[in-house]
Amino acid sequence: MDDLRILILAAGKSTRMKSKTAKVLHQVGGCTLLEYVLRAARRLSTDVSVVVGHQADKVKALLPEETFIDQQEQLGIGHAAMMARESFSGYTGDLLVLPGDAPLIRPETIHEFVRFHRGGGFKASVLTAEVSNPFGYGRIVRGRDQELQRIVEHRDASPDVLKISEINSSIYVFHAPSLFEGLSKLRNQNAQSEFYLTDVIGILANQHQKVGAFKASNDEEILGINTRQELAAIDRVIRRRKCESLMSAGVSIIDPESTFIDEDVEIGADTVVYPSVQIQGRTSIAEDVTIRSFSRITNSRIGAGTVVLEGCIIVDSTIGEQVSVGPYTHLRSNTVLADTVKVGNFVEIKNSSLGKGTKSMHLTYLGDAAIGRNVNIGAGTITCNYDGVQKHPTVIEDEVFIGSDSQLIAPVKIGKGAYVAAGSSISDNVPPEALAIARGRQSVKEGWARRRKKKES
Ligand code: UD1
Ligand code: CA
Repeated sequence: MDDLRILILAAGKSTRMKSKTAKVLHQVGGCTLLEYVLRAARRLSTDVSVVVGHQADKVKALLPEETFIDQQEQLGIGHAAMMARESFSGYTGDLLVLPGDAPLIRPETIHEFVRFHRGGGFKASVLTAEVSNPFGYGRIVRGRDQELQRIVEHRDASPDVLKISEINSSIYVFHAPSLFEGLSKLRNQNAQSEFYLTDVIGILANQHQKVGAFKASNDEEILGINTRQELAAIDRVIRRRKCESLMSAGVSIIDPESTFIDEDVEIGADTVVYPSVQIQGRTSIAEDVTIRSFSRITNSRIGAGTVVLEGCIIVDSTIGEQVSVGPYTHLRSNTVLADTVKVGNFVEIKNSSLGKGTKSMHLTYLGDAAIGRNVNIGAGTITCNYDGVQKHPTVIEDEVFIGSDSQLIAPVKIGKGAYVAAGSSISDNVPPEALAIARGRQSVKEGWARRRKKKES
């Protein structure tokens, strides 16, 4: 929008959250509260500043590209806005103020709100909503002709004012000079001894400047987060929105209620997600994938037609097309599975790659291993990659067969097409096409059991 600068207030503590972490850094749908507000802001203007104070360093580190304004002491929301005076000196356009703790707001709604502000020729406008439970919010006090008079905080409200169900969203548009003029008159004589931005509305109204209140049609959007309960409630809304948008794009989600998909996850059409699945972070899942129940997938890529069976944990990994994973497989830090790989029950893989067509179906640990194509890893295979001090690599070339219950003591290399006999402890390299047997030779004592039984009787 033309001539619209934006100020996000994100300096507050998280007193009611009872948290060490600043409130705006808490997450819903896998992103911080501040991130949602910033995304909405960026859709409206290229000129966005963020007021930071509590844990400012952490906020700044997470958002290195933003413009920040410091509020060293957090003396209230009005005080936070005062800190921006210098940044906006000489600016005579509209200034949109957004709280950093209301992540549901949609740019479309703000757009409508700014149009209302401009159309009405207001010096200040507030976005409001009619809600069934106004507890804790500032109340919108209107006069006889429905004109906005002032905003009264819950803690400062009389019983009559507490009955008002129209609340302040803390989203405002100001004619910038009017805002800073109003702020210069602010006092902190109230229940919290804080400088209330809400009072600027009353101050301007008393000066007979035009102030307006615009009621949002969707009351959910303006909800702010002050407590852990509200954090959970809004997380639920965000997850529901995410599932709905994925379903609209052709993804089947059997039970959206029990499916937790983060905001930034991408999923292709005709993929089916079963109940009780978590898909997190920057995960991208292609088309025609099946994700069975009780799996968690974080920051990973999954190719088309792949099946993830029940109970898998997949973190920071890349999986090709037509792969089968699980049940109960753990893939972590930098695992790469090429197309058509199969990994199965109780297999853990870390920092390893498996080539096309390779199988590891049962009870196995593969760590720091480069494994070629069409390799068969027998049940119970273990790469012994750690000597107590250092990690070492294992190389298994194409078409190798590793017999069950083998240990590969790294660093070690198994050449192309070689066989390792079941139960071997391999500590020396095996040349291509060879058979390596590294276990005690079997001895059979004929009649031993019969003799023992006789002795016992
Ligand atoms: C505020 C409004 C209330 C409104 C509600 C909507 C005031 C006095 N109250 O109350 O009318 O109904 O929002 O959610 O305006 N912040 C700072 N510096 C500070 C204090 C706060 O930057 O010194 C930031 C916080 O980080 C937060 C935002 O301002 O992102 C809102 O602060 P918060 O304390 O949550 O205000 P509420 O009590 O919810
Ligand atoms: Ca709040």
